[in-house]
Amino acid sequence: MQIILIVTLVLHVLSGVFWAGTTFALARMGGNQADLFFRPQMGAAAVAVVTGGILWFLLHDVPLGLQGHVLALGALCALLAAAVQGAMGRPALRKLSALGEPEGSRFRKRVATSQRIAAAFLMATVTCMAAARYA
Ligand code: HEM
Repeated sequence: MQIILIVTLVLHVLSGVFWAGTTFALARMGGNQADLFFRPQMGAAAVAVVTGGILWFLLHDVPLGLQGHVLALGALCALLAAAVQGAMGRPALRKLSALGEPEGSRFRKRVATSQRIAAAFLMATVTCMAAARYA
């Protein structure tokens, strides 16, 4: 049991760090190289969400206390970040690769905006995940 918890938590933190870290970097770089990172980012997001669900199942029960509500807020922000990257960033990246620069520059801006919005959500996620233990 203890080993399952440790492995799940390590996978959760590693994938979350990669997802949030690349999102912060791409937001700062105006979405430059976002095409190289899109699939690994979405893969890391999937691992973070699945392992987060397993941790929830292993560690938390209803009714939710304050800690559970803080974690749930963080999880909601993570899902919103993934939705923005998938629904806004992905189509813009596709159009950008079809058109190329400079014709596709407005899609580059859209990619950058999606990474910035996702970065704000993930900042809230990391804050909630780190604070929940002490709530
Ligand atoms: C749907 C998405 C997510 C869910 C359901 C979720 C759920 C959880 C749960 C249940 C825990 C265990 C808390 C405890 O010790 O009781 C946890 C810990 C943690 N999560 Fe998440 N999480 C999600 C996304 C993320 C993301 C995207 C990140 C990073 C960007 C992240 C970073 C962390 C960290 C650093 C911890 C360890 C906190 C500690 O042990 O003090 N999580 N998460």
